[in-house]
Amino acid sequence: KILIIDFGSQVTQLIARRVREAGVYSEIVPFQSAEKAFHEMKPKGVILSGGPASTTEMGSPRAPQAVFEAGIPVLGICYGEQTMCAQLGGVVESSDHREFGRAYIDIKEKSELFAGVWDVGTRHQVWMSHGDRVASLPDGFDVIATSDGAPFAAIADEDRHFYAVQFHPEVVHTPDGSKLLSNFVHHICGCAGDWSMAQFRQQAIDKIRAQVGDRKVICGLSGGVDSSVTAVLIHEAIGDQLTCIYVDSGLMRQNESEQVVGLFREHFNIKLVHVDASEIFISALEGQTDPERKRKIIGGLFIDVFEDEANQIGGADFLAQGTLYPDVIESVSFTGGPSVTIKSHHNVGGLPERMNMELVEPLRELFKDEVRALGRELGLPDSFVGRHPFPGPGLAIRCPGGISREKLDILRQADAIYLDEIRKAGLYDAIWQAFAVLLPVQTVGVMGDGRTYEFVCALRAVTSVDGMTADFYHFDMDFLSKAATRIINEVKGINRVVYDVTSKPPGTIEWE
Ligand code: XMP
Repeated sequence: KILIIDFGSQVTQLIARRVREAGVYSEIVPFQSAEKAFHEMKPKGVILSGGPASTTEMGSPRAPQAVFEAGIPVLGICYGEQTMCAQLGGVVESSDHREFGRAYIDIKEKSELFAGVWDVGTRHQVWMSHGDRVASLPDGFDVIATSDGAPFAAIADEDRHFYAVQFHPEVVHTPDGSKLLSNFVHHICGCAGDWSMAQFRQQAIDKIRAQVGDRKVICGLSGGVDSSVTAVLIHEAIGDQLTCIYVDSGLMRQNESEQVVGLFREHFNIKLVHVDASEIFISALEGQTDPERKRKIIGGLFIDVFEDEANQIGGADFLAQGTLYPDVIESVSFTGGPSVTIKSHHNVGGLPERMNMELVEPLRELFKDEVRALGRELGLPDSFVGRHPFPGPGLAIRCPGGISREKLDILRQADAIYLDEIRKAGLYDAIWQAFAVLLPVQTVGVMGDGRTYEFVCALRAVTSVDGMTADFYHFDMDFLSKAATRIINEVKGINRVVYDVTSKPPGTIEWE
């Protein structure tokens, strides 16, 4: 077990993630409660995270001194390095040479931390983000790597197994960083590396039981991966104390509601209330053409309908949410800076405040791909776990301009055919997200001997790692031709199909 002491860095969770990837269990605790956690947990090693404070300021956070007296390995990262130095008798000063972003370090000494990864005399890319720097080392420490801005870029006391780095090994911009962390937890701390999602599942279940006791939980199911995994996990922990509410907005894809209800009610035997609210949603959206206005209406209605239903069920103390780690941190960007709202993605952001209930968020520590792995572990079908993302406002934002039942029906059919072709061609998993869009434009065509005047359907498919940037998928023309022909032949109301070749930026993935 590894204890990670959090000093408030935006990327502390990434340390936990890298340690998990190395097959080692870790827990993050805020520095304020680190002393108690340290004594209870008896970890084999401790990692001190980065953080925004400066050790040169009065009252800045410290690691419990016991951490350095227990005879176990300690790794300090960024602020963690500075506090380690300050606490062990070195000197830290604020520096006028700040380093942010990509930097290069030169390896000066052999070290257990670098073993098998970096050799003496080589230079490597790392990610720096610091203002302060170490000015003089505590007794027993040597410099093992330097950079232009940080003469003490990496330091070590090999006898006591204390290591500290000024850069961030946990971010992908330090390409070898995960190997260093693996060296630390395996070779230096001696952890076995046999921890897995199966164990996460058991620990999460224990935590849910401890939090909830014999009280009741309600959970909004959206049909997406996050809420599904949340529901199944909580159900495994507390059974019928959980009730799920599926708000059917009428904006879902073909057969989607039936599949969701079938899977959770029949397969998992979860108490599920299926609320058909399509009338309410579709009439509220009538005549609305502004994308953000549509989102607001849909988000607001979700909350209203959910709250009504929850009140009818009554007696629940907890609201379960499929919050993931990326939702927890405000921004993973190191450059910071003000950001403008392009789209308000958090459609039901106001729910917890409105409901005034305690939250159960068992996925808070996980990243999307880890949630998928957990879903598989819990027995969710592969086809479900590997689904493309689907936006909260559903098909409403895939009918640019006003929506109607008729348009939604046309779109659903085209979308189903397009995805069917993608699956048949074996391309589903190579694509991040694929969908049809029904344009509010009619064009002239000829079918048989007659003139047609029907809607245009746009097809979209993108590759992406995180949805932040994306490239359009490069289908071959035969595929596109086949999908287009089927859509035009089989869907009444569409007589023209186009393919969207815009990347993000400058486009976005959805059309609205
Ligand atoms: P954009 O269109 O912003 O989409 O490039 C990036 C990712 O976010 C999804 N998306 C949404 N998800 N509510 C959601 O829950 C929304 O309002 C929303 N708008 C876009 C989009 O499908 C893509 O995966």
